[in-house]
Amino acid sequence: MDCIVNEVYRYVKKMIKGERLIHSIGVAIYADYLCERFGQQGKSCFIAGLAHDVARELEGDEMIAHAARYSGEAEELEKSRPILLHGKAGAFLLRRDLGIMDSDILEAVAWHVTGRPGMSLTEKCVFIADYFAPDREFIEESERLMITNQDIDRLMIFVLERTFDYLKREGKDVAYTALSLYKELKGVQS
Ligand SMILES: [Fe+2]
Ligand SMILES: [Fe+2]
Repeated sequence: MDCIVNEVYRYVKKMIKGERLIHSIGVAIYADYLCERFGQQGKSCFIAGLAHDVARELEGDEMIAHAARYSGEAEELEKSRPILLHGKAGAFLLRRDLGIMDSDILEAVAWHVTGRPGMSLTEKCVFIADYFAPDREFIEESERLMITNQDIDRLMIFVLERTFDYLKREGKDVAYTALSLYKELKGVQS
């Protein structure tokens, strides 16, 4: 597993630079911490965290094309904001260029942007780690401690509610998969 970590790191370092690379290392460490805290063994969370933004610096057209190869045609919202597709495009790149076939890792990368209902522990750990990462200056230190003492679904709800507030302020639509996930976590029948 360690050699896969090295290989992923070398690849990520080629694809993204500077602060985004530092962000990715922070997400890997936090995702790994959460994964262990919630009782999962292995390096899947670390690897997915390290690679989650691997496609973040591609052009929009490339993101759309790569994402389509991973998960079929994009939704309207995704086509209008291709940046939403950087997770799915990243999953495609990891499969194509590194031969990663572990669906838990690929799906955690693919869904870290919006989330979706039925997320695995790995997917949730990466999603949460991306929001609380050490480089996120909008997180108060007291809030960051939440990752040490709150249960996983409370953390998910916190991240989603903060994200919905942000999107509302920016006048942007919320992805329907994010809304379905939120309803699932709150136990609302849809
Ligand atoms: Fe991202
Ligand atoms: Fe990120």
